[in-house]
Amino acid sequence: MAKSPVSLPLLYFLLLLSFNSGILLKLANGQVKKWCVAKPSTDDKALVSNINYACEQLGILGFNCSQIQPGGACYDPNTYINHASSVMNSYYQANGRQEHNCNFQGSGLITISDPSYGNCQYP
Ligand SMILES: *[C@@H]1O[C@H](CO)[C@@H](O)[C@H](O)[C@H]1NC(C)=O
Repeated sequence: MAKSPVSLPLLYFLLLLSFNSGILLKLANGQVKKWCVAKPSTDDKALVSNINYACEQLGILGFNCSQIQPGGACYDPNTYINHASSVMNSYYQANGRQEHNCNFQGSGLITISDPSYGNCQYP
């Protein structure tokens, strides 16, 4: 059973596919960039608690949550899930993208697709 189960043309095809889907374009220092967002099923109470926690911790680290304040780039849509995702990601990024910094008692989700939209940039 010396033969590889994956043929060379298939490998090329998969490689091209990954390039086209943009996944490999996000490579930085050999790592795929990741973002942290709130799980869509999270209830409002947990989302508010995540917003408060993330913003409090960001403040200690010298950041702020001005992006989700009125007039901020990520204020719209003005929903808990949107605001929570934005600041949970800031918290995750500010702490060096360690998996446990996107836990939020099970309500955080690490994603490899950039959640940025319009003027709202996810660092
Ligand atoms: C919040 O942080 C941003 C980006 O670092 C900065 O431009 C802004 O002045 C800060 N706002 C407050 C209220 O500290």
